[in-house]
Amino acid sequence: DSSSLEQQQSILVTGGAGFIGTHTVLQLLREGFHVTIIDNLDNSVPEAVDRVRDLAGPALSRNLHFYLGDLRNKEDLEKVFSRTRYDGVIHFAGLKAVGESVAKPLLYYNNNLIGTINLYEFMGRYGCKKMVFSSSTTVYGQPDKIPCIEDFDLRAMNPYGRTKLFLEEMARDIQKADPEWRIIHLRYFNPVGAHESGHIGEDPKGIPNNLMPYIQQVAVGRLPELNVYGYDYPTKDGTAIRDYIHVMDIADGHVAALRKLFATGDIGCAAYNLGTGRGTSVLEMVAAFAKASGKKIPIKLCPRRPGDATAVYASTEKAQRELGWTAKYGIEEMCRDQWNWASKNPYGYRSQP
Ligand code: NAD
Ligand code: WQD
Repeated sequence: DSSSLEQQQSILVTGGAGFIGTHTVLQLLREGFHVTIIDNLDNSVPEAVDRVRDLAGPALSRNLHFYLGDLRNKEDLEKVFSRTRYDGVIHFAGLKAVGESVAKPLLYYNNNLIGTINLYEFMGRYGCKKMVFSSSTTVYGQPDKIPCIEDFDLRAMNPYGRTKLFLEEMARDIQKADPEWRIIHLRYFNPVGAHESGHIGEDPKGIPNNLMPYIQQVAVGRLPELNVYGYDYPTKDGTAIRDYIHVMDIADGHVAALRKLFATGDIGCAAYNLGTGRGTSVLEMVAAFAKASGKKIPIKLCPRRPGDATAVYASTEKAQRELGWTAKYGIEEMCRDQWNWASKNPYGYRSQP
């Protein structure tokens, strides 16, 4: 029967020690998949994987393997591919800080492009031609229209965004040349929140770039106030609007994408938005977090951040129709779970500042 077949399905998860990776790996284990992580721990820590094991419990943890390795290093890939036969790959590994990509474009092109090219080469060589790739709302640039629909023309605004755009285009070429490939690009909007246990969550190095981790650090007293970038946007309260989505919804979106890859029917190379379809302003997010945490979040109104769009949110129809997936959580749950993680782990996975 299909459930016992699924029991044996084995998934390689690159970047599985990271923010979205840990939450997704946990869901995969709970769904009965065998999981192998390859991660170079450039932006993550072993403790994160240990906590996934704790949450999964001893029985399911036996189905989780971790390799310390870098996708740019073919010897590491050879080790990972020669030991196990994978039914599919979920590819999270990459660098993701927009500002850093502007300052260090070569680092971003080197890591994100070469790592992914190597991965496709090894997948092809070992006959594993099913891929779920982490794409991003960044491929819509500053959209002319909202909600963003998957067949919009794509444009990138910075080197990070261009790596995602190039890698989507490359995958379309790979699939065209060899129709055996089945590739799903998941375009995440703004992933936030944490597992409801508060045991795993996002733990950025240094001062956070993104809104929610920044608010979180203000709430726990690590940072004095939030800089609100732009208060003169043509929106209801003057601040920019985004589609924030709970990381557990993102994790479930990956399970749905895998099921699509394993189902019959033509997929080719397809893209799906993972968003809620709802827009929230910066000030609305601050208010929701203050309510969930009971903490004051002091703000400072600042000029716009260069490159930021006014309002971005997803059309959710295609993912609902073709993946049978839709986001379950709203802003309240995102803030509740982010605060639970923050209050239990004010310094993230480290116990000391
Ligand atoms: P993350 O930094 O927490 O996780 C990425 C993981 O990949 C890290 O554990 C890092 O150590 C690892 N890694 C990086 N380069 C590697 C390499 N060459 N070899 C092996 N491991 C490597 O980031 P995340 O938020 O979990 O994002 C995961 C993916 O989703 C990324 O590709 C990111 O671009 C994409 N994405 C993220 C967001 C977001 O806001 N978090 C939004 C859209 C898309
Ligand atoms: C959200 C809003 C800021 C920080 C980024 C990437 C995108 C994707 C998701 C990876 C904006 C405002 C922020 C702060 C603020 N990632 N803000 N003060 O820029 O929508 O998207 O993450 O693929 O590619 O660009 O997310 O969280 O940085 O910002 O006022 O300290 O919060 O101006 O309006 P963004 P964000």
